[in-house]
Amino acid sequence: MQPYSLTASTIMMNGVDLQSLTQRYGTPLYVMNESFIRNQAQRFKATFVHEHLKTTIFYASKAFLTLAMAQLIDEEGLSLDVVSLGELHTALKANFPPSRIIFHGNNKTSLELDYALKHHVETIVIDNPYELQLLIEKVSRPQKVMLRLNPGVEAHTHEYISTTKHDSKFGLSINDVETIEVMKTMINHPLLDFTGIHCHIGSQIFDPSSFHKEAQLLLEYMRDIKDNYDIEIKTLNLGGGFGVKYTDEDTPFDIQLYFHDLLDFIKNTCDEYQIIYPHVCIEPGRSIVAEAGVTIYTIGALKTTHSSKHFVFVDGSMADHIRTALYQAKYEARILERPLDPHDRIYSVAGKACETGDILIHESSLPTPNIGEHLVVFTTGAYHYSMASNYNRLLKPAVVFVNEDDARVVVKAQTLDDLLSSDVML
Ligand code: LLP
Repeated sequence: MQPYSLTASTIMMNGVDLQSLTQRYGTPLYVMNESFIRNQAQRFKATFVHEHLKTTIFYASKAFLTLAMAQLIDEEGLSLDVVSLGELHTALKANFPPSRIIFHGNNKTSLELDYALKHHVETIVIDNPYELQLLIEKVSRPQKVMLRLNPGVEAHTHEYISTTKHDSKFGLSINDVETIEVMKTMINHPLLDFTGIHCHIGSQIFDPSSFHKEAQLLLEYMRDIKDNYDIEIKTLNLGGGFGVKYTDEDTPFDIQLYFHDLLDFIKNTCDEYQIIYPHVCIEPGRSIVAEAGVTIYTIGALKTTHSSKHFVFVDGSMADHIRTALYQAKYEARILERPLDPHDRIYSVAGKACETGDILIHESSLPTPNIGEHLVVFTTGAYHYSMASNYNRLLKPAVVFVNEDDARVVVKAQTLDDLLSSDVML
């Protein structure tokens, strides 16, 4: 399924002309193909299965979460990974069942733990001994817990989104004895039900062997702690990180084929190591929503610098599109009114924030843009709305879901009143 289609005079999404959305809702505007997201969720559900292994998919809500998105994930039958009070609150307000929520984070606050316990979140993933102590002080009825581990896998991705290098801030190392002590504390606690281990090696990963390596190291660890400490791991959560296509340089692997291999590998390795088959979980975020989303901007000024660099300025900025500045991420864009027109030259698409680094696309091959036309930036469904800020007091755009000839606002555009709603005058 393609999230959108190009014609000579417009871009269509699910039978809806994106130009009609700019007229109805203005720009900048985040637009998400709801059917595409549902389809992705179903694709994961259909392929992450194995006849001998219990499996669960947690959608990583940090990629994109709103009330409507939590409802959608619930309707599609996925579970949910949250990482903060705000994500948890959003999920619960959308009536997402807490029995399908896993709570992550490397420094959960006292308030967050209280809230998670009060609302019976299914599993809390402990990151470090301090967090465990805090939880022990609070827990008053049975609570499932897991431990986040760092197996030291160097996934090939941007340094900022790689999470299991040995010096990463996340989890406890599989090479430290302290890690076993933390596990024993959980196992011996009368109210804590230690179910297993969690790991997330990084994000936007294209090499499936990184996930195999992760699984292998964790299965070896499971064998070793069973042999040496008689600790049995019932759940193995491998995190998310499956890469998506932003530009032609990106080559995601075929999830359908890959999950089959990965789950077979886990089953066979368990047989070989003589350990029980774990309940295997994953936490895809980006791969569920990224390609479903586009951002529409209005083209403003054009500028050619003294050094002959060609800029096209849009009415958004790094405040709604931070990934280029933060990770040197690359994107593709088209002019909405004539997406198939031949390209004329390379433009730098820049925003309106007061920051030299406020570039959305460093090199975008476009026909000569006209002021007032719209620019559609593709693959912005993940980590765009969720990372948006009010830098320069710019307003956050609305989010619209498009579904079979229909569009509905799922997040209203921020207003100037919203912007001031938390400010207090002297
Ligand atoms: N599970 C855990 C514990 C995670 O930390 C993450 C992402 C995921 C799952 C989901 O990973 P995904 O499938 O989306 O790759 N802001 C960055 C991405 C940071 C990801 C952090 N953790 C970006 O825009 O690329």
